[in-house]
Amino acid sequence: TWTPAAFVETTVETMKEQIGDGKVVLGLSGGVDSTVAAILLNKAIGKNLYCIFVNNGLLRKDEFESVLHQYKDMGLNVKGVDASERFLEALKNESDPERKRKAIGNAFIEVFDDEAHQLTGVDWLAQGTIYPDVIESVSVNGPSVTIKSHHNVGGLPDFMKLKIVEPLRMLFKDEVRRVGKEMGIDSELLGRHPFPGPGLAIRILGDITAEKVRILQEVDAIFINGLKKWDLYDKVWQAGAILLPVNSVGVMGDERTYEKVVALRAVESTDGMTADWVNLPYEFLQEVSNHIINRVKGVNRVVYDISSKPPATIEWE
Ligand code: XMP
Repeated sequence: TWTPAAFVETTVETMKEQIGDGKVVLGLSGGVDSTVAAILLNKAIGKNLYCIFVNNGLLRKDEFESVLHQYKDMGLNVKGVDASERFLEALKNESDPERKRKAIGNAFIEVFDDEAHQLTGVDWLAQGTIYPDVIESVSVNGPSVTIKSHHNVGGLPDFMKLKIVEPLRMLFKDEVRRVGKEMGIDSELLGRHPFPGPGLAIRILGDITAEKVRILQEVDAIFINGLKKWDLYDKVWQAGAILLPVNSVGVMGDERTYEKVVALRAVESTDGMTADWVNLPYEFLQEVSNHIINRVKGVNRVVYDISSKPPATIEWE
């Protein structure tokens, strides 16, 4: 029978043999899969694993700093790269969802390639690919390090010419979490909701500006912290906020306002393929909505998304 302990033992042994004294580069995303893959490799080859954690400026509020700190605490050899400006620039005036994804994917490849280039003697690229990614084979368009078919071989970034190591490719998500737990990874990190590679860019409908990112980060933080405070976070598969490209009329004191609308989304799911909206308590929604409107400048209306997938998708873009 499969046990996390046996998996860790055999995988570490196999990777030691396979990689030997070789150097490995790995892109951390802050998510469960890349983190578990990194810790496994760290056990096998230690400082010969070079992790790169890119801030695309589209992460949750304060996430880059806090997750980078966690990675260092876990003993990983990790470099944090703040490329926020570069991603914002790549996204400038772009409103089309797929073009946003492509711009982010390309910016990620450029940043990662620049960084990988500075490392000498690297011969492996590690990825946190898990079994569902393997069978889906049409890989996510996000800034995962998955090799894209449209890159012709001659023009490949350097890191794409590396040999690939994917220690989790036979595992399902729940098994990845069990392996992570076995290796002592913090349960809060292992229990994190899925977060899309393109981040808040696909939750800001229309074009992206630094100001919109800031507004959505504030709204999202109030929502997510509220879920934790009300002990609802672990009962929800994924949650987040969406900044809509419309203004609505409101009133504050004697003043008429004309400000942004945000939607809150929380779903139950097992794999993201289908999903049901979560029946969150009215008292919770009331508290969160009040906090958002009172504290986040530029937002005067909050709505709750009551659509399931299909026919809606989890993300709005
Ligand atoms: P949808 O919106 O298709 O989302 O119902 C299903 C799951 O996939 C995530 N998602 C993405 N993840 N890059 C990613 O890495 C993407 O471009 C992307 N689009 C959606 C979404 O957050 C949900 O968990």
